[in-house]
Amino acid sequence: MCADIKRGLIITIDGPAGAGKSTVGRHLAQRLSYIYLDTGALYRAVAFKVLQEGISPESEDDISELCGKIKVHLENRQGGLRVFVDEQDVTENLRTEQIGLLASRVSAISVVRKFLLPVQQGMGAKGRIVAEGRDMGTVVFPDADVKFFLDAGLGERIRRRYEELARAGKKGDYPKVERDLIKRDSQDRERSVAPLKIPDNAVIIDSTNISVSEVVEKMMSVIMDYDRFCVRR
Ligand code: DC
Repeated sequence: MCADIKRGLIITIDGPAGAGKSTVGRHLAQRLSYIYLDTGALYRAVAFKVLQEGISPESEDDISELCGKIKVHLENRQGGLRVFVDEQDVTENLRTEQIGLLASRVSAISVVRKFLLPVQQGMGAKGRIVAEGRDMGTVVFPDADVKFFLDAGLGERIRRRYEELARAGKKGDYPKVERDLIKRDSQDRERSVAPLKIPDNAVIIDSTNISVSEVVEKMMSVIMDYDRFCVRR
C-alpha cells in the first residue's frame, strides 16, 4: 500500500532487546543518508535522570513531575547521535544494563511515553528518517512508509548483549545477562501502554543466522521496491 508522500520516507524498525536494531538502524540510515533516531536513548535519558535525582522507579508522581521539569532532545552530530537532558550531554552514561532495565520500567509509565512522543515525532516531521525502538510502527509513526520488525532467537540475543558489554569493558556474568534480558523482554511486551508487538504491514526479518550487512541488504531491497512502486510512479 502506498502512502500519499509529501515528505521524505519514514522507515521504522521495531523489535526486542538484542535483535540488532541499533547497529542495523545506524548502517541503514548511513546508506540512505537519512537521520537515525534511536528512541531507546530517550527512555534511557529519562531513566538516567530518575537515577541521578534519586527518584523511586515506583513513584509515578515523582517521575511525572520530573518530566514536567526537564527537556530531552537528540542532536545528530558528526560521530553520531548525542542525547541531551536540558543542556547536559548524557550520551556516555546511557549504555549500561542498570539504565537499560530502568528505562524499560519507566517506559511503561504513560506520562513518560506522552512526554517523549512529540520529541520523536518532531524528529520525523520531514521524513528521511530511520526510527528504531519498540512502538515505532504502531504508535509513534503509524503511517510510516516501510516498517520492519527485527527479531532474533533468545540465545543469540543474549550472546550479542554479553559480547556488547564485554566490548564496552563491562563484562557481566552470563546468567545475569540472560536474566536481565528475559526480564526486559517481558516488561516491554506485557506493559499495557504501547507494548512491543509486530506492527501491521511490517516486514519481519529474523537476524539469528544472518550478518548485519545481510539484514541491511534485505531492508534496502524492500525500500527500493517501495521507492519504485510508490514514490516514482
Ligand atoms: O533499545 P533500548 O535497549 O535502548 O531501550 C531501552 C528501553 O526503553 C527498552 O527496554 C524499552 C524502552 N523503549 C520503549 O519502550 N520504546 C521505545 N520506542 C524504545 C525503547
